Amino acid sequence: MISRTTIDSVFETARVEEVIGDFVQLKKSGSNFKGLSPFSDERTPSFMVSPVKQIWKDFSSGKGGNVVAFLMEHEHFTYPEAIKYLAKKYGIEIEETQQSDEQKAQANERESLYLVSEYAKDFFVSALHKSEEGKAIGLSYFKERGFTDETIKKFELGYSPDSWEAFTSKAIKDGYKLEYLEKSGLTIVKEEKQFDRFKGRVMFPIKSMSGRVLGFGGRILTADKRAAKYLNSPESDIYHKSKVLYGIYLAKQAIAKEDNCYLVEGYTDVIQFNQSGIENVVSSSGTALTPEQIRLINRLTKNVTVLFDGDAAGLRASLRGVDLILEQGMNVRICTFPEGQDPDSFARDNSLEELKEYLDENANDFINFKASLLASEAKNDPINRAETIRDMVVSISKIPDAIKQEVYIKECARIMDISEEVLFNTLAQILQKVKRDTGRKTQQPHLENMGIVTTDSKQLPKVDVQYELELKIIELLLLYGTEDEEFEDLILETTKEGKIAFTPEKVRTKVYEKIYLDLQDDEIEFTNDEFRALYYEIINRLNEERDIKIDILVNQLPPEKAEIVTNILMEDEKHSLHNWEGKDIFVKEKKDTISQVVNETVLNLRRHLVTTKISELANSPVINGEYEDRSVMENIEDYKKLKEVLSTKLRRVL
Ligand code: CTP
Ligand code: MN
Repeated sequence: MISRTTIDSVFETARVEEVIGDFVQLKKSGSNFKGLSPFSDERTPSFMVSPVKQIWKDFSSGKGGNVVAFLMEHEHFTYPEAIKYLAKKYGIEIEETQQSDEQKAQANERESLYLVSEYAKDFFVSALHKSEEGKAIGLSYFKERGFTDETIKKFELGYSPDSWEAFTSKAIKDGYKLEYLEKSGLTIVKEEKQFDRFKGRVMFPIKSMSGRVLGFGGRILTADKRAAKYLNSPESDIYHKSKVLYGIYLAKQAIAKEDNCYLVEGYTDVIQFNQSGIENVVSSSGTALTPEQIRLINRLTKNVTVLFDGDAAGLRASLRGVDLILEQGMNVRICTFPEGQDPDSFARDNSLEELKEYLDENANDFINFKASLLASEAKNDPINRAETIRDMVVSISKIPDAIKQEVYIKECARIMDISEEVLFNTLAQILQKVKRDTGRKTQQPHLENMGIVTTDSKQLPKVDVQYELELKIIELLLLYGTEDEEFEDLILETTKEGKIAFTPEKVRTKVYEKIYLDLQDDEIEFTNDEFRALYYEIINRLNEERDIKIDILVNQLPPEKAEIVTNILMEDEKHSLHNWEGKDIFVKEKKDTISQVVNETVLNLRRHLVTTKISELANSPVINGEYEDRSVMENIEDYKKLKEVLSTKLRRVL
């Protein structure tokens, strides 16, 4: 047990912002610090740390607490582990009260796995440096690859002796249970026999963000074609290969400081880069990049530079990882190495200056990269070109930020020499498809701002009945809004026999009031954004000033809206509802009074919306010939009645 005095001095010394700062990139925000939640996948910071109160709060997950609570949440430490971690970080000596064998045995399973992994790491390190076999085979191999003693020690590289159970029997002798040796994958148990998984390999310990050993990668030294070059620990309670990045522990500070992370493919790439002096580098260790791995980087920086080996094989497949990075709102650059070279060999063959210069000059954003891929393939093949362009737009569609999307579309149009409009339309289509396929909300308000019609509204160009009706309402407001008119309304009544009857009623009111109240009654909202904004602009002015000065209005409106107004005012045939026959719209030749036109327009709009609503409902999901949702049928009937009422009113008006 850790003594009370040790615990107290840990709490006195530890600073919550410093401890959390090792895991989360924090930015000063007033008297607090802010950062991206390490517990959820977010893009806007909702994670707060208070240095004054020495607490943290994650608003996205609701979690919070003191410095120890953070380590327990984030690193899955037990309480004593968290205290030990802090003591080590702040150089506090741990005073232990006696621990019985029983207490030792009670340490939970995860802890046992951590312990056995840490033990194994020490065993392999010692086997590398202290045994003749390790020195002759393992150490000389690392030296041959150009790793210095310092590097070998820094990465705690090791060697697993080439005998069936050198490690396993030593571990058991030192009190580690076979159960945990097996669960961690270090030992393979078959019937009565047990043997070392990593026999005869050089060892790369894989560590968590906080430096705990989670598992291993072991490289074979013989040229045996049948055996895998690298062997990795199997999944366990502490090792999930999709959630770790090799090198993250040594790289995290540099990643945050440089505000960029180099992502490479292998263990040796990480080590060689680090030795060269580029420390902000991690590896996904040969597996396809996962969202969890990207999230680890995302806590430290928004910028990733992916480094690909020289051989083009599998390159297109690896590009999927790029889309995953874009999806998390991060910036991606891609850099390839000359044929036959990988980051490891390139870093070894060149000086730090040359390496840096190469990276700076050859790291392209993904659009340029994809374009250069095409150039290296069939340059003039139109099918290939079309595919590449589409591929680029798919990548762009992953970017959550609308402004960035627009910038990339423009860049893509420029590089591929294709019109922006076509690309924007393709983007809209892809986003629509994503929306349909996943039901996921895709933000695309910018498309409308840029005058781009999405496929849904594309089938409804200018002849759109609703569009015409909404425009007509604006027109009526502008031209006759303040005029006093006598309106005839039909008051709906149910007779004693249950029949519906209408009693006409005459009301004198201003045109704008009539329109406003009728539409408000139905809670009808204009579907066209421009018209809706303009409608409220006009209604508000009329409600406040009871008058509307057209010239002032036009001058004050933004250009697009002013244009609509100007067009309306320039229109000669102010009363006509032209070309509407045959579109299921009630039309009368010539209007006698303004009140009739107003009534008719409002009723037509209402009726149109109801019709739309009915067909929408009619398309509801059906099971065994009946609507899945039983209220659908009732709703349809209600709307049909309302439609009948509106039609009756319309017939009377016309
Ligand atoms: N890898 C693996 N299993 C394999 C081959 C590769 O896990 N059978 C992983 C390792 O993490 C390796 C990475 O994929 O580091 C990249 O593979 P490769 O380019 O073949 O390895 P290098 O790191 O270049 O290995 P070396 O230079 O040691 O041959
Ligand atoms: Mn290599």
